[in-house]
Amino acid sequence: MIVIVFTEWLEFAVRWFHIITAIAWIGSSFYFIALDLGLKKNKNLPHGIIGEEWQVHGGGFYNIQKYNVAPSNLPKDLIWFKWESYSTWLSGFFLLAIVYYGGADIYLIDRETADISNFQAISISLVSIFLGWIIYNNACKSPLGDHNNILMLILFFFLIFLSWFYTSIFSGRAAFLHLGAITATLMTANVFFIIIPNQKIVVSDLKAGRTPDPKYGIIAKQRSTHNNYLTLPVIFFMLSNHYPLAFASELNWAIAPLVFLLGVSIRHYFNTYHATKKRLYWTWILTFVIFAIIVILSTYKKNNEISAENFNDLERIYSLEIQALSNEVHDIISARCTMCHAREPLWDGYLNAPKGFIIESKEDITKNAKMVYLHSAVSRAMPPNNISYMEEIERFIIRYWYENKYADG
Ligand code: HEC
Repeated sequence: MIVIVFTEWLEFAVRWFHIITAIAWIGSSFYFIALDLGLKKNKNLPHGIIGEEWQVHGGGFYNIQKYNVAPSNLPKDLIWFKWESYSTWLSGFFLLAIVYYGGADIYLIDRETADISNFQAISISLVSIFLGWIIYNNACKSPLGDHNNILMLILFFFLIFLSWFYTSIFSGRAAFLHLGAITATLMTANVFFIIIPNQKIVVSDLKAGRTPDPKYGIIAKQRSTHNNYLTLPVIFFMLSNHYPLAFASELNWAIAPLVFLLGVSIRHYFNTYHATKKRLYWTWILTFVIFAIIVILSTYKKNNEISAENFNDLERIYSLEIQALSNEVHDIISARCTMCHAREPLWDGYLNAPKGFIIESKEDITKNAKMVYLHSAVSRAMPPNNISYMEEIERFIIRYWYENKYADG
């Protein structure tokens, strides 16, 4: 009991911390992107300054100026922006370990997708995240790195591959979370291994009286552009865990790459706007179309298999009156869900129903019908890892009950 309470609060505390650092990281990164793109040139600026911006915030006025490479005399107090990123990654990794490695049976593995052991699943998680960075970093450093657009296209194909890979090895939930985690790892590693070290070389060159090579700035800029386009997809993937239609539908592998495109189309609007004040409205049309495709893909369901296999079952189900059908749904839920989603769950390790979601009595089920439908009939989010062996026909019955009888009544 003490262990359960402790881990539950530890998870909450780490999640709280993680979100705070992520807000700080993304906030400062958006701030600097907009600042950098919005700098104004002005003839009266002192030598060595390439642009300035006036800002007003919190009752004060600020005049920010950007130096071409660096000032000739470095100030003693230089503020670096790196801990926002590092602490987001560290807390995110800790959270991944608590939730997905600690609860690998339920969260990471889906035996119907790939029947692997906890050890295998955790190893694949760690190795893939590490390898992801090695592959990405080497692609950027190779001659491809000189052609930004080709590099971006190849990286997009890499992300399509990862979407396929993770959705064919992990549960949908874990697959989407890993797409977020690997992308966020690339972003933090860009800061840790490339952007900050390059900046340090420039600083030490200046201290030693050498002229810094501008290539360090160009490389840092390339990585920071990647980070810019990857930010929104990462947040989508992290939040997607609450939306089974996103991560647990049959075509989740096709939805994931589209999420990366959404990130590009939305950022492109703002980047262009900050740089030129031009409003590219077509990017919103594109964003809307991609989003609509995602919505449509999320509802795809192969029903044919059920009808062929369970012809007699279907005949019987179609002939049921609403009352009998509700009884049947109640039986299915009692057999497949209530060990966890009860007032006093029987499942080891749960003091309360997960997320406080209770479907014990018929009234509970009626009240929560939509959630039951979304998590176990339209998508396969529940039962996690199909741990209670829910059958296809049972999912179909819930779907039929909700769409035909329940919705009508
Ligand atoms: C092994 C225990 C277990 C079983 C069995 C189980 N669930 Fe869950 N359920 C969970 C856990 C754990 C979560 C929380 C997932 C998360 O972290 O978002 C959850 C979350 C949910 C949610 C989301 C609640 C919310 O507010 O976000 C719904 C809906 C749900 N389950 C429905 C079902 C249905 C329907 C079944 C049976 C078909 C079922 N569950 C079977 C463990 C279980």
